[in-house]
Amino acid sequence: MIIAIDGPSASGKSTTAKGVAKKLGITHLDTGAMYRAVTLGLIQAGIAHEEKEKVCQYLSEMEIVFDTSNQIHLNGKNVSAEIRTGEISSLVSATSALLEVREEMVKIQRKIAHGNDCVLEGRDIGTVVFPNADYKYFLIADVKIRAKRRLSELEKIGETKTILESIEDIKRRDYLDSTRDHSPLIQAEDAVSIDTSNITIDEQINKIVNQINHNK
Ligand code: DC
Repeated sequence: MIIAIDGPSASGKSTTAKGVAKKLGITHLDTGAMYRAVTLGLIQAGIAHEEKEKVCQYLSEMEIVFDTSNQIHLNGKNVSAEIRTGEISSLVSATSALLEVREEMVKIQRKIAHGNDCVLEGRDIGTVVFPNADYKYFLIADVKIRAKRRLSELEKIGETKTILESIEDIKRRDYLDSTRDHSPLIQAEDAVSIDTSNITIDEQINKIVNQINHNK
């Protein structure tokens, strides 16, 4: 069983996907974390997006692995905290717009999900990675609420921003993610839309879990 959860940043995908996976006892794959890890890796290697050959070489040599606690490791190092900084958030949309990066990530995502019941969260899961997913959801939320969620995530790692800066960041990423040439953020025709602005986390999770249990 494949469950696809797509939507813009801070729409509630991670919390929902994590909760759904826990309740159903299945694998949770955060594909955004993978694009963030590549972004970090390219910075560390000093490779610019324009250096296509170097990007391809890097992609062919790097290793992304999720451990049993769902922590992400890049080339053997746990980078789960490092990929959440404001710097990575501001650069990840550009990295994820590169076709070479997308092709490699999709390959790894399909491999991880192969033969597993899995809930995948991202931008293109229901449209590109698993167009035949058993269940597809598209999460949305008011931009101010999303900006507040991002702020509290940043606060946890000691970074500060104003609410206006956070709103601008979110809008910029929405624009970049939904206007890129390859696999833009778009709702699959057969995806169920869930507005998480005014519902609790439990309600978000139960909406999905109840539908799946109902169909069993
Ligand atoms: O969900 P997130 O904010 O961690 O995702 C980080 C970025 O990665 C997001 O701005 C767009 C990109 N992304 C993508 O292009 N495709 C995915 N399936 C997941 C994320």
